[in-house]
Amino acid sequence: MTAPAPKPWILGIAPYVPGRSTTDDGRKVSKLSSNENPFGTPQVAREAFLEAATSLERYPDAAAAELRAAIGAHYGIESERIIYGTGSDEVLHLAAGAFSGVGDEVIYVRFGFAVYDIAARRTGATPVVAPDKDYATDVDAILACVTERTRVVFVANPNNPTGTYSTRAEIARLHAGLPKHVLLVLDQAYTEYLDPEDDDGGLELARTQPNVLVTRTFSKIYGLASERVGWGYGAPALIDAMHRIRAPFNFSTAAQKAAIAALGDKDFVEHSYQHNRQWRSWFADQINAMGNKGLRAVPSKANFQLVLFEGEVNAETAYKALMDAGYIVRWLPGQGLPHGLRITIGTEEEVRGMVEALRRIVGA
Ligand SMILES: Cc1ncc(COP(=O)(O)O)c(C=O)c1O
Repeated sequence: MTAPAPKPWILGIAPYVPGRSTTDDGRKVSKLSSNENPFGTPQVAREAFLEAATSLERYPDAAAAELRAAIGAHYGIESERIIYGTGSDEVLHLAAGAFSGVGDEVIYVRFGFAVYDIAARRTGATPVVAPDKDYATDVDAILACVTERTRVVFVANPNNPTGTYSTRAEIARLHAGLPKHVLLVLDQAYTEYLDPEDDDGGLELARTQPNVLVTRTFSKIYGLASERVGWGYGAPALIDAMHRIRAPFNFSTAAQKAAIAALGDKDFVEHSYQHNRQWRSWFADQINAMGNKGLRAVPSKANFQLVLFEGEVNAETAYKALMDAGYIVRWLPGQGLPHGLRITIGTEEEVRGMVEALRRIVGA
């Protein structure tokens, strides 16, 4: 051997492709490709971030005690049962890393979040893909994939990139059907966009069951994607195992302070939720009104909309034409969706402008 050889399973990983920020010719236009908050960051979080600039020479609180206490108080959960990460991405990696390895299987759904595959393969585990049900999570299909080797099941609710949602009853049925040694990771990155009656019961399951981990993020409705703050909640034994492999100072003081401040800005969160609810629904109606041109909106409960192109104008053409018109959206051929565009719900102006551009593109 003439050079260090990566483990064979590492070379099997397809690198994560983030949403783009600029067009092919370098223009900075409306970015509707990464499901960020179109209203930016709560002002109080910005201020807390700036204040942290006075102590850059100090390591952050490795225990994130203040942030865990704030999360615990906000959601009525025990702060000592909270794990935190450099974005919820890291929490997903910690879950796979602590509970799976070579010879094990990790299940996720077709059209699931891309990080699950990377997190599973990184540990040497074998990813197992459960078929979807018209783009949505199919609990029976997941359960049918379970074998004695299964260690982790990843389910995002709502799911990314489809925006689809599983009811509380479906999530309970999934959990009930899993052997107790299988960890169910319920990824709730978009949960704040759900109507209150759509609570899927994840936190309650994580509180009462030994094998459920809920993950959350500050990247979406809290407008802090740049700061990389994610967390998870589960049984003490789960949290303990993940802490052992967590990087000791995995997010900055500024990130911790900003997240605490953002958590307290109820008006910002409420406004973001209401706006998203209104314009997601409007957008889906506009898309479905172009049904005669082969467009279809997959029912979404998140802050984005998956649009399928099944007519004359295909998704790739629409993607490029939207970019020319000033809107960067997400085309996902690498995730088995060459016929789909995932489009973040932006400001009113962005949503209206993008729909107008789409109408021109498909000739509606
Ligand atoms: C379903 C899902 N989970 C987790 C994440 C990771 O978010 P972050 O690492 O920013 O917390 C995302 C981001 O897009 C997501 O869509």
